[in-house]
Parts: sequence; C-alpha cells; structure tokens
Amino acid sequence: MSETLANLSSETRQFPPPEQVAADANVKAEAYEEAAADRLAFWATQADRLTWAKKWDQVLDWSNPPFAKWFVGGELNIAYNCVDRHVEAGHGDKVAIHWEGEPGDTRTITYADLLKLVSQAANTLTGLGVGAGDRVAIYMPMIPEAAVAMLACARIGATHSVVFGGFSVDALSTRIKDADAKLVITADGGYRRGKPSALKPTVDEAVAQCPSIENVLVVRRTGQEVAWTDKDKWWHETVEQAGAEHKAQAFDAEHPLFILYTSGTTGKPKGILHTTGGYLTQTSWTHHAVFDLKPETDVYWCTADIGWVTGHSYIVYGPLSNGATQVMYEGTPDTPGRDRFWQIVDKYKVSILYTAPTLIRTMMKWGDDIPAGYDLSSLRILGSVGEPINPEAWMWYRKNIGHDKTPVVDTWWQTETGGVMISPLPGVTAAKPGSAMTALPGITADVVDDQAQSVPNGGGGFLVLRDPWPSMLRTIWGDDKRFIDTYWSRFGAGAGTGDDWIYFAGDGAKKDDDGAIWLLGRVDDVMLISGHNISTTEVESALVSHPSVAEAAVVGATDPTTGQAIVAFVIPRGNVDTEGDAGEKLNVDLRNHVAKTLGPIAKPRQIMLVPELPKTRSGKIMRRLLKDVAERRSLGDVTTLQDSAVMDLISSGMKNTK
Ligand code: WT7
Repeated sequence: MSETLANLSSETRQFPPPEQVAADANVKAEAYEEAAADRLAFWATQADRLTWAKKWDQVLDWSNPPFAKWFVGGELNIAYNCVDRHVEAGHGDKVAIHWEGEPGDTRTITYADLLKLVSQAANTLTGLGVGAGDRVAIYMPMIPEAAVAMLACARIGATHSVVFGGFSVDALSTRIKDADAKLVITADGGYRRGKPSALKPTVDEAVAQCPSIENVLVVRRTGQEVAWTDKDKWWHETVEQAGAEHKAQAFDAEHPLFILYTSGTTGKPKGILHTTGGYLTQTSWTHHAVFDLKPETDVYWCTADIGWVTGHSYIVYGPLSNGATQVMYEGTPDTPGRDRFWQIVDKYKVSILYTAPTLIRTMMKWGDDIPAGYDLSSLRILGSVGEPINPEAWMWYRKNIGHDKTPVVDTWWQTETGGVMISPLPGVTAAKPGSAMTALPGITADVVDDQAQSVPNGGGGFLVLRDPWPSMLRTIWGDDKRFIDTYWSRFGAGAGTGDDWIYFAGDGAKKDDDGAIWLLGRVDDVMLISGHNISTTEVESALVSHPSVAEAAVVGATDPTTGQAIVAFVIPRGNVDTEGDAGEKLNVDLRNHVAKTLGPIAKPRQIMLVPELPKTRSGKIMRRLLKDVAERRSLGDVTTLQDSAVMDLISSGMKNTK
C-alpha cells in the first residue's frame, strides 16, 4: 500500500455492559492491568485453569523466533481436560452436547457418555495401529462423533486434520497427502437441505489416490448405500464394541494437536499447525472470558462447522475444557424453514450464541418477523466471527435477536491465531457496533504503517501482532520457510528491519479516536481510488446502513481516470421493489447514500442489484470473482465457491448494464 488507509466512517453509538453482566462477569477490567504488568505471569495463571500432569518449567521460550514454545516442560492430556476431569468432579450427568439433527432427530450426550465414547474410540484407534504423532484425517458431518473423533485423537496423541465435509475429492486427497495421514474417519453421509448428502464416495475416491491410508472408519448416519473396501470398518462394529476404559497419557505441551488447512487466495493450502498446552490455555480462557460462560446455567451454541477453526476452538476444545453445556446442529439454517435457528434457541433456551456476519445478514434479508415469532429471552451474550460485521448488521443482531439487552462481542482472530485475539469483554467493554474494540488481556495487537510505525488514533494501516501468544500457530506443516515468509517477513526482524518479530495478519485496520480497532478486510481487497486507499468493508457497511440493503460486496475495478473505481454488488432486502424505474431510482439513491455517508471519493461508479453473492463455504465473500465480473474478464478458479450457479446470475446481470 502506498499510503495508509483513508479513515472514512465514524461511528458514535456505544453500548456499555448491562449492570448485572458487569457485576457477575467472569473477567473484569483488572485483567487488562494484570496482563500489562506481567504478560507471562498472566498466561501462567490462565494455564493453571487446566489440569497438568507435570507443571512447566518455563512459560515461554522465544529464543528461536518466530518458533515459539509455550509452557516448556509441561505435560497434559487434552481429552482428560475436556472430559475426564468433569466426570471426576461429579459432573458426569451434566449434558455436554444437545445434538439436533437436521431432520429433527436428537441426542443428549452427557460428560459421562462422552467419556465412554472417547475412551472407546481411543481404544479402537490404538487397535488400528494409530499412535502418538500419527496423522488422522477427519471428514465428517456435524454429528457428535466428529467431536468424539477429534478428542480420541487428542487422547492418544495423534494429530488430527479435519477437512470440511463439503470439500471435494481433490481437496481431501491433497490434504491427506500433505499430512501423510494413516487413517480417515468419516460417515456414510449427513443431512443437508432436507436430504442425505453422501460423504463416503468422496472418501473412496480420495483414498484410492492416497496409499498412506491404512484404514477408514465409517460412522453410519444416513443409512445410504455405500461401497465397501477391505480398508473400511464401521464405527458401530468397532468403536461401539470397544472397551470403555482408557487411561489418558500426558503429552508434552508442544506435542502437535492438529493441522488445519487454510486455502487463502493463492498457492496450495497451508497446513496450520497447533500444539497442545498453549492452544488449550488460550482457547479455554478466551471462551471463559469472551462469552462469560457460567457452566452451571448457560447453554452455549456456536453455529460453525467443525471443519473450520471456529469449530475446533469454540465447539470442541474451549467449551468442553470449561465443562459447558452446548447445542450442536447438523444442518442448514433454512431447513425445514428459515426459522430453524430461532426454533433451536427457543427449544434449548440457548443463552450464548456465536455466529457469523454472513448468517446475520442473511437473517436480516429474510426479515425481522421470523425471529420475532420465537421466545429468545434466554439469550444473554451474542458473538460474531469470520468477517468484519457491518455496524447495521451488528445493530440488527443486538435489537432483533438480543432484544436490546445483550452485549454483542465481535471477535477477531484467524485459523493461525488459534483463539480470539481482539474482542470486547462483555462485562467490561462499552462496545461500538462494527468494532472488535481492543486486544484481549495478554495480547499485543497494533495498527502500523508501511514502516511498521504504530499509527496514531484516527489512522489506518496494517493489523499486526507484536508479542507471541499461547495459541499461535507453530509453523506451516512441513514448510518452515513458508511460515516465515507468509507471516513474519513483512515487518520487523523477519523483514530485516528492527529487532522485534512482528506477525503480519494480512488484514487492514484503523484505530478510531479512542484507540478502538476496526477491521477493514483483507489487505488484498483494499482499493486504490485516485491515490487513496479505501477499504471495501467501509463502503459495504455504508451500503448496508441503507434500509433497502441486506448485503453488499464492493470491489475496485480498473478505471482509466481514477486508477480503480468502486463497483458494488448489492442484495436488496426481501420486501424491496427493484423492477424497472424503482430499481434505477434505488441505484441512484444508494450511490448518493454512500457519498453522503463516507464522502464523494467513496461514491461507487456502478451498483449492481443481484440476488446472491459468491461465497466460500465458510461464508466469506469471494471479491476476486466479482472483480473478474466488474472488469469483464472470464472467471478465475471457482472451485471453493459454495454455489457456482450464483456467478452465472451475476455475470448475466452485468452484461445487461451499459
Ligand atoms: C480472517 C481469518 C477466526 C475464525 C474464522 C475465520 C477475517 C475473522 C473477523 C472479525 C473482521 C474478521 C479476517 C481474518 N475475520 N474474524 N471479527 N472482524 N474480520 O478464520 O478462515 O482463518 O479467517 O477472517 O480477515 O484474517 P479464517
């Protein structure tokens, strides 16, 4: 970026914590002071929330940056921490998972049930020759066995690599090969959009290309016909018949726990490696702090899939280490109807809900009357993750889902960071709609310019992390050089300037006048308009603040006069008329609305009204494809697109303009 980001929008609304939440909060304002006084002592205190078989000798070894070692010399078993210790403490009858299948079937799994299943699975894995350090691929629908499989791997020290169940043969086999996995754990299929969706045929094709795989363990979920090879074993004929006693052995704090691949925009997927002690310390503490979980009374629900890091850290490891009772849902939010989420919240009296902006905007588009039909009064904390949340989407969430009484925590983090890094604390922070606010205690985040200088309040630039944190990635699996090049070579010691190692997150950000951090999207998405860097996120948020708009995606398209020009793709709200003149008028209104909100420099050259936006399967907008459309190029790689028909709709609309 030639200059730092133009800081266009200003948000003045602010929501302090409700009195009761503040009074009862798990974590109070003093935590910031404690961590500032002694960061490593602060993290040692949080590590003490876990049960260690052997205490560490050193909190952090940063003698070989950027390769960190946390809790050096310590030993623990993750599954013991997530399961056994709750049973030993007398909570065996407590519900761990209220599972809701898409067709409406349900299962209730207590911590005692979970202990039995995880122990049986651990015995089965050992029997199949899987041992500490071996890699296991997990390709599952959202059923309890997915969590059991992960915990069983952790229990025996095998490193899991969960591959999202919507991914292709190619994606699965590439990941199996990169990690050299021995075993795949899968299911015949899962329910999606009202019908069984097969998984086993994808596994069969992938395994045929992957000689490292010795066995395939298959859960029967849908009862679909499946092809069978001599590598295949049914879960119910192995795990469910296995012995239920298993003694968990402790592993080194730096023992590899899992690999999770992130695709990014270019190159082959990166296998992000997370280890044991630091990862569990941070995911456990952040879950306790950011969601203020009261294990006795709260019902927690994270709507992510286990195939993403959110599912790893905030469905499996964080909540279970804290002894939470949680909801796990198999299917899509619109099956059988668009009220499914609210029906689930009402049914289980969910008190903490963690979801993504893409879902919140979809719910806005579907209309306020749908959540209004349910009793959502159990909700007390709402969370958001995955993308910047537009201020209007934040307001809608707080008002229509939280009935204006729940704190909203916008949590910024990444697969690479392992756990939440920047977020309000619900009992402490007066949150601003659209801002992730400030770094959590013990975390050092900053916004810097090209020269790695911290920008003053009111300025914009690059988001960086300055000190190592417990749940940070340890490397890219098998590629230390790429680890250094990708994250540590933009600024500081890794770039040959300065002595400090500075982690480059790849996101643009600004600090407002109070020093609160606003995430502005991936740096690759920033637009350069007449010499000014403008963030796609700010223009999108301005569009979403118009009452007729549900969702917007903005790109910079090459322009002969301004270098780049802003082209916006807009989904109108459900009840908005867009036919003929009404559409033309809306178009003009929207362009003027952006100019008025952010200034004339941000006025879009063109606005396209579209029915859908291209999204990855984790719900992120694929601006790269929209840029292809805006610049009238043929489309690049569409393989990670959730629904490829969307692009035909958008491209044909574009041809009809000008
Ligand atoms: C990227 C990481 C963290 C779990 C899910 C995504 C974006 C994530 C926020 C937020 C603004 C956010 C960033 C980040 N992102 N949360 N609260 N506000 N942006 O994990 O797939 O590794 O993606 O998601 O761009 O770098 P991921």
